[in-house]
Amino acid sequence: MADAEQPLAQAPTQDRSLDRDCTTLSRHVLQQLQSFSSEAQDLSALMTRVALAAKLIARRLTRAGLVEDALGFTGRVNVQGESVKKMDVYANQVFISVFEQSGLVCRLASEEMEKPYYIPENCPVGRYTLLYDPIDGSSNVDINLNVGAIFAIRRQEGEDLDEMAQDLLQDGRGQIAAGYVLFGPSTMLVYSIGKGVHAFTLDPSLGEFILSSEDIRIPEHGPVYSVNEGNFWQWDESIRDYIRYVHRHEGYTARYGGALVGDFHRILFQGGVFLYPGTVKKPEGKLRLLYESAPLAFLVEQAGGRASTGTQDILDVIPKQLHDRTPLFIGSKEDVALVESFIQERARDQQDQMAAARL
Ligand code: AHG
Ligand code: MN
Ligand code: MN
Repeated sequence: MADAEQPLAQAPTQDRSLDRDCTTLSRHVLQQLQSFSSEAQDLSALMTRVALAAKLIARRLTRAGLVEDALGFTGRVNVQGESVKKMDVYANQVFISVFEQSGLVCRLASEEMEKPYYIPENCPVGRYTLLYDPIDGSSNVDINLNVGAIFAIRRQEGEDLDEMAQDLLQDGRGQIAAGYVLFGPSTMLVYSIGKGVHAFTLDPSLGEFILSSEDIRIPEHGPVYSVNEGNFWQWDESIRDYIRYVHRHEGYTARYGGALVGDFHRILFQGGVFLYPGTVKKPEGKLRLLYESAPLAFLVEQAGGRASTGTQDILDVIPKQLHDRTPLFIGSKEDVALVESFIQERARDQQDQMAAARL
């Protein structure tokens, strides 16, 4: 065959990375869906908006120490009863501004807002609700440690967008997309639309999120257990039993960064379990279902892991209120099951004692 007809030799390595650098988030979503339907286009557009919000927040975070008024507290307390950081307010507003222009989202439900924020001009066609935690791990913001953002997208159900957003009070299996942004040494966006879990890394020189890990699978078991042991004496005895077990057995290591997204990200890649149990005073725990636990539960199940309240899959929990909290045990199948086994054992002991007391 004359040279002209010779097929192009296999592209040299640097060209293959060029091809990878062209795998942007919007293209990846469409590839996942193998479709150009209106819903596929919507999801691709929504993920592109999430990526824009992530870039705007990353830009602020990387310069926070130099920008007047970027850090510190606002002096206000939010619906969670928590002191609000200036970065919480900024990031919350970023999502509002980015999605107001999207035309797709009619309502935003945020950790930082008591009630959902409606975008009336989007509602006639806006077919989606965004639920989000704009800055997760706020306590890390002022000390330049990793923070995150967590998001979930649900379809708009019905017309009556009542104030109390009753239609949002559904289990986590109604999420059509979920993920998080990790603002760390690099900014990563990890997402799923129900077809596996994929990670993108921000290339600041391009201003694009580029595919860095595809079809992430969480190990069946891992060495990490991640929990705030400062709460040890507030927990149910069953959790203390679990902690004593991992203290006494080889092969476990404690890692706790104070930001759910960073702690979860480590476990997604290395295996293990993150625990935020309830306490005697607050049996429901600290973490919020709709925009912290449920989105991560969606992801971890897509990656082959599990997320539990200790007695029920997180994705089956139906909230009564927008800001409902649940205990959270999330990570590798075997490690979540181990925690649950201590909870079940204690429950059996208590039933036996109650039965014995009745004799
Ligand atoms: P947020 O900053 O959105 O309120 O979330 C903080 C959460 C979560 O990120 C983290 O795992 C947990 O709070 C840490 O709580 P403790 O400080 O009680 O350990
Ligand atoms: Mn949070
Ligand atoms: Mn938050």
